[in-house]
Amino acid sequence: MNPLRDKRRDTPRSGERPQQPAPAAPRLAARRAGALPAERLPVILEVAPNADYALIDSGAGRKLEQYGPYRIVRPEGQAIWQPALPERDWANVDAVFTGDTDEEGMGRWRFPKAPLGETWPMRHDGLDYLGRFTSFRHVGVFPEQASHWAHMEGLIRAARRPVKVLNLFGYTGLASLVAARAGAEVTHVDASKKAVQWARENQQVARLGDKPIRWIVEDAVKFAEREVRRGSRYDIVLLDPPAYGRGPKGEVWQLFGDLPALVDTCREILTPKPLAVVLTAYSIRASFFAIHALMRDAFAGMGGAVESGELVIVEKAAGRRLSTSLFSRWVAQ
Ligand SMILES: C[S@@+](CC[C@H](N)C(=O)[O-])C[C@H]1O[C@@H](n2cnc3c(N)ncnc32)[C@H](O)[C@@H]1O
Repeated sequence: MNPLRDKRRDTPRSGERPQQPAPAAPRLAARRAGALPAERLPVILEVAPNADYALIDSGAGRKLEQYGPYRIVRPEGQAIWQPALPERDWANVDAVFTGDTDEEGMGRWRFPKAPLGETWPMRHDGLDYLGRFTSFRHVGVFPEQASHWAHMEGLIRAARRPVKVLNLFGYTGLASLVAARAGAEVTHVDASKKAVQWARENQQVARLGDKPIRWIVEDAVKFAEREVRRGSRYDIVLLDPPAYGRGPKGEVWQLFGDLPALVDTCREILTPKPLAVVLTAYSIRASFFAIHALMRDAFAGMGGAVESGELVIVEKAAGRRLSTSLFSRWVAQ
């Protein structure tokens, strides 16, 4: 069994406990003709401790993190080693996620020092946004994604032309804000009305209200397929799908069943001079070789390269690497 199966087990759809059906057989598109893109792997993209976010310590099934002004303790199934810091450091925190640690557990927050409000100010690389204690254990940002954001920002700025970005499964919008700040025209799609409301709030908090971002509450597959029919095209597509999710009208998303066709659709909606398609996957029983093979096949005949590996966070206390997700991205150059 692959050790990555419990990555990012928190399901960000708020207020919902989805029933996971048995994995569906993949809906496969016809195999693309043409030479496969070059390949680079394994690529390990690391996020180091920084002024906005740090994984301070980890161990004994928990992680201690700094999110802006707050120190937070949350469960972390992969931290099967011992904490490096003494217990007093783990006790001197602002919030602890307690409650059941089931795959989809709702759980609760405890505030050992003083009761805290639901939201708090956060920052990423000069972008202000809101952290939030949600009923799931997550807080509205997946810091490991910062590696993708920096890469995407570089591509947008280097292009020196108008760039259109599609952010599927966009959640609270950090990637959309980074893209918009870099000058791209952004379309952000998520099935959760709450997540999109939060993302819109983040746009205001980040003082990017004048930037062109379309916020869309829709099923990612339906939206992408409609864009093909409409002839809408994008230079960069980001997709960060959960293992299992639902669209706003109850459309079922199952990664193993639906990802192959969606990746193929993403190819269909690329401009003639595309820059990249960036896929992240987590909470699945697979290795990055699986999504690497899928991406290489899907981008046959397009040139460029597919690079695949893991997104990891480097811990401050002892420098251990906490793996969070698998990724595979096609890049034109
Ligand atoms: C892990 S989050 C994405 C995180 C985001 N890329 C980031 O870095 O902040 C997955 C998102 O997929 C959304 N989702 C689940 N099923 C969906 C579907 N069928 N269509 C569109 N979005 C969906 C959830 O609402 C959730 O916000």
